[in-house]
Amino acid sequence: MHIYLDTANIDEIREAASWGILSGVTTNPTLMAKEKGADHKSTIQEIATLVDGPISAETISLDGEGMLREGLDFAEWHPNVIVKVPSTTEGLKAVYQLAKHNIRTNVTLCFNASQALFAARAGAFIISPFVGRVDDTGIDGMTLIREIAQVYRQHEIKTMVLSASIRHPRHIIDSALAGADIATCPFKVLNQSMKHPLTDIGIEKFLADWKSRQ
Ligand code: G3P
Repeated sequence: MHIYLDTANIDEIREAASWGILSGVTTNPTLMAKEKGADHKSTIQEIATLVDGPISAETISLDGEGMLREGLDFAEWHPNVIVKVPSTTEGLKAVYQLAKHNIRTNVTLCFNASQALFAARAGAFIISPFVGRVDDTGIDGMTLIREIAQVYRQHEIKTMVLSASIRHPRHIIDSALAGADIATCPFKVLNQSMKHPLTDIGIEKFLADWKSRQ
């Protein structure tokens, strides 16, 4: 399973990229809005200088024509740009048209397996089921990943399953076990994943023992 960073923050991307674990980046309008005053195009282009992999840029139109227009524009920004559209019938229209232009799409805000199947049939490159937001409703979000992964596997669908709305380190491991191809994670969760008290205690003890040697 590949690890993507779910942010538009350049410092976070630079730091996580230096760890050598990043295969891509996802952004959305909320994440863009957090970077006060940042221009969409130049942010995506700067991300592309830091990470050599798919970078999702999200459209804001509600109609397929508008999404298509935005997507055609985004695709000019950098070859690694993936056009993000919502899981709606208008989104499907945009995916279908963009695929004809060989432009890759990420179908976001996916909350059921039918949306995932239809997105794949329309030609989506990535489907993004939102694990954390499903969990928030009291339903197990990981079941959604498992279902989509099974449907895709069983029907030899190549669309990649991207586990989104990751809230904690366990979500990453469970996504990998459930068959996700990618997990897109907030920077905080990547840091939490590498933290273990026994690692810290172990380092402390090794250093203390090393010093006591003299
Ligand atoms: O990028 C989409 C998704 O990962 C957003 O997550 O935490 O806003 O539900 P969240």
